[in-house]
Amino acid sequence: MGRMETTKTSGRPRLRVGMVGLGMIFDDTYRPVFEQLRRTGLFRRDFGLVEVELSAVASRTGARAQRLKQSAGARLADFASFIGSNPVPELIEHGVDVVCVATPDDRHFEAACHALSAGKHVLIEKPSVLHLRELDELVSLARQKGVLARVVYHKLADPDHKKLRTHVVDGVLQHVNNGYCSLLEPKQISGSQFAEWITGRNPGTYVAVHYIKLIDFTFGPPHPQPLAPEAGARGENAPLSPLEGRGVGGEGWRLARVQATGQRGLVGPATGPTWDSVQLQVVYAYPDGREAAFDIHTSWVMPDNFPGYVEQEVQFRFDNGIWNAHQRKRGVEVAIEDRTPNELKNTPNHHYNGTFLEPWGERSQRGYGLEVIERFFEEVAFVEFGGPAGERERRLEQMRALHYSDLSTDRNTVAIVQAMEALLSEHAAGRPGGIVKVNDEGGGLVLHAAGSTTGTVLYAGRV
Ligand SMILES: NC(=O)c1ccc[n+]([C@@H]2O[C@H](COP(=O)([O-])OP(=O)(O)OC[C@H]3O[C@@H](n4cnc5c(N)ncnc54)[C@H](O)[C@@H]3O)[C@@H](O)[C@H]2O)c1
Repeated sequence: MGRMETTKTSGRPRLRVGMVGLGMIFDDTYRPVFEQLRRTGLFRRDFGLVEVELSAVASRTGARAQRLKQSAGARLADFASFIGSNPVPELIEHGVDVVCVATPDDRHFEAACHALSAGKHVLIEKPSVLHLRELDELVSLARQKGVLARVVYHKLADPDHKKLRTHVVDGVLQHVNNGYCSLLEPKQISGSQFAEWITGRNPGTYVAVHYIKLIDFTFGPPHPQPLAPEAGARGENAPLSPLEGRGVGGEGWRLARVQATGQRGLVGPATGPTWDSVQLQVVYAYPDGREAAFDIHTSWVMPDNFPGYVEQEVQFRFDNGIWNAHQRKRGVEVAIEDRTPNELKNTPNHHYNGTFLEPWGERSQRGYGLEVIERFFEEVAFVEFGGPAGERERRLEQMRALHYSDLSTDRNTVAIVQAMEALLSEHAAGRPGGIVKVNDEGGGLVLHAAGSTTGTVLYAGRV
């Protein structure tokens, strides 16, 4: 595809963004990013000053869009609003260059599919999609149309997780063997926030996926690391960093098998398809026969009077070390009469997303939850405006090679989510205790029910 048609005002490049889904995550992260970008524009030496504007939104009822318009006023562009169960075609028709998808996780695929088919760059909230065949379709559409298809996993941008990966890549922490992660959400998430779409859902898909990605990306097989995009601006030929081929993270392990169980009875009936909590185990195999196992525990029925918004903890054990991290106990502990722990939290995480009065008097909202979204717009701006039109393809490939968010490298994560959902469905149908094997003789993802000698193929191709 040729250079994308982007609207220009007074010669200034502009990215018009369509937002699908205006829920909690939109309010927390996208909205402050759009407001800030409207004030400051997006600037980098290689692509110059680019306007990023929220041009259109799509949601079920339009009520939130109306409230947003009133409360944001001039802080946001005069966006159009489309409603219904499939408002995306109209949103695209309105004229956008980029589409961000933040609908409930079982409704990502359709929106992303429409947007990519129309040749729009796409950013999807985690988990990208729930089936590998959906992932295959989106990846192939993005290739055909010459656009970026990305997924947001903000935990990869948490400074603590960046340091963990830096130690792994530099060989300071060597050969991960096992670990645990837990991410526990308060009851209000399952009870009110997500009440509209909770039936048949589970907290594993919603939040274990953060840690599934962290593990897969941090300890995963070698992959090329392009230099910072600024290199392109100097007219160099997309050089690769010295990391290439050195084995970033793990020593070329492969995903081997997945198991999951969970509990019901609070959000829905004890024998129904809606889960209160999920325990997932994921096993990877190294080429020399050693294995690594990770247990990820999730829940969305913890008390609302949590000292922090969510309880998040990890421990990873290596041949030569151990890494413990707590995502909320980072040093601040505060108590305020009548305000903590409900309205304000006792142990807040100011690194993810915080509102601040800057020393120079400005009010700001910042954190890695916002940075990671702004970074996506930088990547799109780099592809579209970061150099001559004839080199767009090269810039696109350079951005696609950034494995932290490209949809093509979300395979293991989607495979694990698909396996977990299939195991939970089997469980709900009265057959608990199954296991999903990856890339065995039967296929890419094969579910073996407890006690059964034959498997059910969930995905035939190689994962
Ligand atoms: N990165 C994170 O930490 C994080 C946190 C929360 C949620 N999320 C992800 O963001 C996504 C949305 O979660 P949320 O918490 O904002 O949910 P939410 O329930 O608060 O909001 C969902 C929004 O999607 C809209 N919607 C529903 N069906 C639609 C359709 N068919 N077409 C268009 N709009 C539709 C609703 O109107 C609503 O505005 C999920 O994938 C979730 O996993 C990510």
